[in-house]
Amino acid sequence: MDLILRNATLPDGGQQADIAIEAGRIVAIGPALNLKGVQEIDIAGDLVTPPFVDAHFHMDATLSYGLPRVNASGTLLEGIALWGELKPELTQQALVGRALQYCDWAVARGLLAIRSHVDVCDDRLLAVEALLHVKKLVAPYLDLQLVAFPQDGLLRSPTAFANLQRAIAMGVDVVGGIPHFERTMAEGAESVRLLCEFAAENGLRVDMHCDESDDPMSRHIETLAYHAQRLGLQGRVAGSHLTSMHSMDNYYVSKLLPLIREAGVAAIANPLINITLQGRHDTYPKRRGMTRVPELLAAGIDVAFGHDCVMDPWYSLGSGDMLEVAHMGLHVAQMTGQEAMRSCFRAVTETPARILGLEGYGLQVGCHADLVVLDAGDPIEAIRLRAARRFVIRRGVVISQAPPAHAQLNLPGRPGKVDFRLAK
Ligand code: FE2
Repeated sequence: MDLILRNATLPDGGQQADIAIEAGRIVAIGPALNLKGVQEIDIAGDLVTPPFVDAHFHMDATLSYGLPRVNASGTLLEGIALWGELKPELTQQALVGRALQYCDWAVARGLLAIRSHVDVCDDRLLAVEALLHVKKLVAPYLDLQLVAFPQDGLLRSPTAFANLQRAIAMGVDVVGGIPHFERTMAEGAESVRLLCEFAAENGLRVDMHCDESDDPMSRHIETLAYHAQRLGLQGRVAGSHLTSMHSMDNYYVSKLLPLIREAGVAAIANPLINITLQGRHDTYPKRRGMTRVPELLAAGIDVAFGHDCVMDPWYSLGSGDMLEVAHMGLHVAQMTGQEAMRSCFRAVTETPARILGLEGYGLQVGCHADLVVLDAGDPIEAIRLRAARRFVIRRGVVISQAPPAHAQLNLPGRPGKVDFRLAK
């Protein structure tokens, strides 16, 4: 064996197991494997998980905080305007440099697959070229999936649809959209139809920014589900944000959820961003704005959590930590039950892996040996502690290491070390 991890705790709990890896794949999992590894690591009961997956990100904007100025109001719309100011000043070199730096952070956080939207409304397609280049550069250690995103509106921006088609021809993977930003509800619905038909004709997945609004009448998810079903796109379409659902009438939602389920459309909530950007027009009480995660899950709909933004025109914080995203999602959705907290962990691991269609993802024999060892005893503790990533492994090779989060205490009669862990 190339590598054996000894005494791992698996996300589903139960007995500790060894994980044997050869030629970049998991070849055996079981208690006290009678095998010899070239490298063996005793992880002493730490949690081992497949890597974190971010289903929704903007790598063309990341780490640009303060360029050319800070978002003063903090709103989504000022963020879009600010991004519009920055776009003409972007250079390939700066885009690639920032994206690579973010990917370094991601790897150190055990985040090894990212679906990033890339704005196609700049006729130069500078960001598309830059991120396609980055995708190639990081491919050995990180799966970067790109979405052609018409930030200024598919119909509202005169060259957006042509640019989107050019981006796809250049190698961008997924069809994006932003129906709530079109001029009218009708144009929003028309953009959804055009984009879904384009995706169906070209065998592509769809992931739209959909109803990122507090307006309960923003119902483009209904249209997205309709066309996904009509065109046979089940399992290949995601609606990102869906924040208007937070404010919708309960009766309407009771009809909507089964339609989304029937259409095989997944939902991607972005808790850090939704709790920050939504409800900005409210006085008090202020709406949380995040979509109805527990209800979507109860209806049998896949729900992933995305990071969306890190240090960009919309969000001034973040560091690529999907456990921070899960932590916020858990709080905003009040998902405090044991099973609910575990589903928040799945929302940043196996569910987004399914939405992205990642091949060989998982913790079974035959899967890629892409693994993260966390300084925690189970997934709930991992969220509680935003646990240190002790080892990040890609195709059987350790590509990042970090020390456990210990503190040395100097108190008479008390233990000398605190590690904050309880789960065993
Ligand atoms: Fe987004």
